[in-house]
Amino acid sequence: MKFFIDTANLDEIRTAHRWGIVDGVTTNPSLIAKEGGDFISTIAEICTIVDGPVSAEVVAEDADTMVRQGKLLARVHDNVVVKVPLTVEGITATSRLSAEGIKTNVTLCFQPMQALLAAKAGATYISPFIGRIDDISWGGTELIAQIVEIYSNYPDLDTQVLAASIRHPAHMVECALAGAHVATIPFGAMRKLFNHPLTTSGNAAFTKAWEGVPDSDIEGQVTAWLAKNGR
Ligand code: E4P
Repeated sequence: MKFFIDTANLDEIRTAHRWGIVDGVTTNPSLIAKEGGDFISTIAEICTIVDGPVSAEVVAEDADTMVRQGKLLARVHDNVVVKVPLTVEGITATSRLSAEGIKTNVTLCFQPMQALLAAKAGATYISPFIGRIDDISWGGTELIAQIVEIYSNYPDLDTQVLAASIRHPAHMVECALAGAHVATIPFGAMRKLFNHPLTTSGNAAFTKAWEGVPDSDIEGQVTAWLAKNGR
């Protein structure tokens, strides 16, 4: 499962990128507005940090405008993926953008047949919003499992399932078990993936034990050993 980071905050993207586990970035109009910066400069800057798909969303009601916006966004950087809402006009725009070889991420998916529509329109990614489904007392990760199963029934469809609206590490476990191709994760939830109290206490115990070792200089010892053994 690929990990995208779900933010427009450049510091968060730089930090997570340093961890070496970020395969791409998703943004949406709310995330861009929250950071307060210029939309296109932000997207262009993100593309210099992460060498992977970067979703930038169109904001329009009609397919013609979405297609025009999408074509412009796709020119900003080769890694830009045009994010399109799952409306009649959005699917129409997706179909037209896909026909021109422009990568798309169809967003705001809340039921499996919407995902099939996006795949038929040639979407590169479908984004089911699992947290928002949980918020209204259904099962967000059940939706992921249904879409993965439906897509696998029709191998000619190559749309990838991009689990979105993730809120916590348990969502990630369920997405991975369900076979999501990608999960897009807010910075805070991504940071929590590292945490386990037994990792923390175990690491502290190893560090303390090492303080009792007579020569604890690993680099010095290894360098000397390598020189002595001609390696
Ligand atoms: C990403 O593509 C989505 O826009 C995002 O995950 C939505 O998350 P939210 O439901 O927390 O706003």
